[in-house]
Amino acid sequence: MATTFKPRNVLLFGATGNIGIYILDAILAVREEFDRIVIFTSQTTATLKKNLLDELRRTKKVEVIVGDLQDEDAVRKAYDGIDTIISALGRGAITLQIPLIRLADASPTVKWFLPSEYGTDIKYSPASAQEKPHQQKLAVRAVLENDVSELAYTYVVTGPYADMYVHFASNPEVGGWDVKSKKATLLGTDGNGPVSLTTMKDVGTLVRATLEHPSVAFKRALRVNSFTTTPSQIHAEFERQTGGQPWTDVRYTSLSRLREVESEAWKTEKPDATGFTLRRIWTEGGTLYDQRDNTLIGEPPLQTLVDVVAEEIRQSS
Ligand SMILES: NC(=O)c1ccc[n+]([C@@H]2O[C@H](COP(=O)([O-])OP(=O)(O)OC[C@H]3O[C@@H](n4cnc5c(N)ncnc54)[C@H](OP(=O)(O)O)[C@@H]3O)[C@@H](O)[C@H]2O)c1
Repeated sequence: MATTFKPRNVLLFGATGNIGIYILDAILAVREEFDRIVIFTSQTTATLKKNLLDELRRTKKVEVIVGDLQDEDAVRKAYDGIDTIISALGRGAITLQIPLIRLADASPTVKWFLPSEYGTDIKYSPASAQEKPHQQKLAVRAVLENDVSELAYTYVVTGPYADMYVHFASNPEVGGWDVKSKKATLLGTDGNGPVSLTTMKDVGTLVRATLEHPSVAFKRALRVNSFTTTPSQIHAEFERQTGGQPWTDVRYTSLSRLREVESEAWKTEKPDATGFTLRRIWTEGGTLYDQRDNTLIGEPPLQTLVDVVAEEIRQSS
């Protein structure tokens, strides 16, 4: 692959999902850098998000293809003239990417595939191979690394989303800050264990920066983040931005308790078991590195802890 490659014709799967919309926004902010921006979306989304899709067509010249991503003929046709594919498909659709990757490899125009990652590093350590939530993404990586001939790939590994990390979870034991009630649960025995976070807006920025640096991004994971902090530092920032008084209801969930909650959730097949496992991994330090790859992709300007806390307070009021 020539290093002079620049993506000009991009197709997105899952473009209006939780994280896809941030990736799409970041790309559309530099619309002139691309010839074609194409969204492949389901009939359900086309109906539910009709106004948004109409607006994207009208104001940003986004091409919207409505179809079933399991319809190989429809996907093959959608790939015509596309050089780069960004998938932001949700957890329920991770393995559906495998046929999409094989079709991309067979396409005469598609050169680069970014599978749906944007989260916890699924190859952080040897133990990562056993983690239940990682299995489907690992299977996707195996296809990209072993079964395709020409296709380049990049895994954009961002760690947990700061916006979601600070939000008070439905199960208060798994962490978060409840601004209205001034209640918080900090993960870890003392809240001083570091955790690396990326805001959802920054996921978009970092994917766009990845597209701008294909020569360093091909055939590897890029481990990026917005900032590294601790639950105690997040808590101090919430207190600072809510008047400077200590919050009265502050609890801690130790790693051993987090493991119990996680194990119970898997035993009883609760849908939030995946989330509990990920929070346990983050609390164990599974988001931390000596160095980040932000510099490789031009060190784009990113958000800070102050921004994240301010936004959470704004949304709670
Ligand atoms: N780091 C973190 O803290 C964190 C948090 C959440 C998610 N993530 C990661 O981000 C990626 C995207 O997740 P998300 O929450 O943004 O996804 P999502 O909003 O649940 O889904 C994104 C899109 O995928 C398509 N889709 C979803 N489920 C599908 C199914 N079962 N079959 C077919 N299509 C389906 C839909 O698009 P169309 O209808 O347009 O086809 C949907 O809008 C995942 O890899 C996830 O693990 C990371």
